[in-house]
Amino acid sequence: MIIDGGPRRNMNTAKMLNSFAEGARSVGQEVEVKTVRLYELDYKGCMSCMACKVKGRASNLCKFKDALTPVLEEIAQADGLVLGSPIYFGDVTGQMRTFLERLAFPWLSYNDYRMTAPKRMPVVLVTTMNGLPERNNSNGYGSMEYCLSAALGEPKHLIAYNTYQVNHYDRFELAGFSEEAKRKWRDEHWEKDLQKAFDAGRQMAEM
Ligand SMILES: Cc1cc2nc3c(=O)[nH]c(=O)nc-3n(C[C@H](O)[C@H](O)[C@H](O)COP(=O)(O)O)c2cc1C
Repeated sequence: MIIDGGPRRNMNTAKMLNSFAEGARSVGQEVEVKTVRLYELDYKGCMSCMACKVKGRASNLCKFKDALTPVLEEIAQADGLVLGSPIYFGDVTGQMRTFLERLAFPWLSYNDYRMTAPKRMPVVLVTTMNGLPERNNSNGYGSMEYCLSAALGEPKHLIAYNTYQVNHYDRFELAGFSEEAKRKWRDEHWEKDLQKAFDAGRQMAEM
């Protein structure tokens, strides 16, 4: 299951996730890959309804019903989870964070503070950003990373730095960026970033 937490259908995050999907599919026809685009769904974050913690009927699957319900059910059955998001103001997008609240709150036991998902599975966390490896403000998946790690397993990270934010820098007020420097970085790194995503997809499918 691939969860795309970015708004743009054909830009950096979507391309990284597509490459991951291609890598997974390259293993064979028996590999099923599904991508869900969060921005196309109408859903809320955790409603604090506490239905997942009712005495005797606690559930590690969110009980609130909306467009996210079938997605959460499918993740519970999946063999692997890939999350992708651009970095917005240092964090993943609000849409991704909102999704993660619904995914992870039912995992948390307020009896013993353990995090238990319906099933453990390999996890890959993808982020794309303007920042450079040595100069970035990214907090990545932040506190949610502990939840994912405890409940599903230690995640692998794929990070695309210094991405092309627009296809034509001369059409926008973006004087703070040098298009030449961006292009140089893209020429040196972007194909490699996509290849890493492809390889990670193949590796997860082989697992
Ligand atoms: C609202 C907004 C906030 C952003 N904040 C950051 C940021 O804090 N750090 C950063 O490195 N890039 C930031 N960026 C740049 C994006 O993370 C980067 O362009 C990313 O690759 C976009 O992904 P996309 O092409 O899939 O939309 C921001 C972009 C937007 C639109």
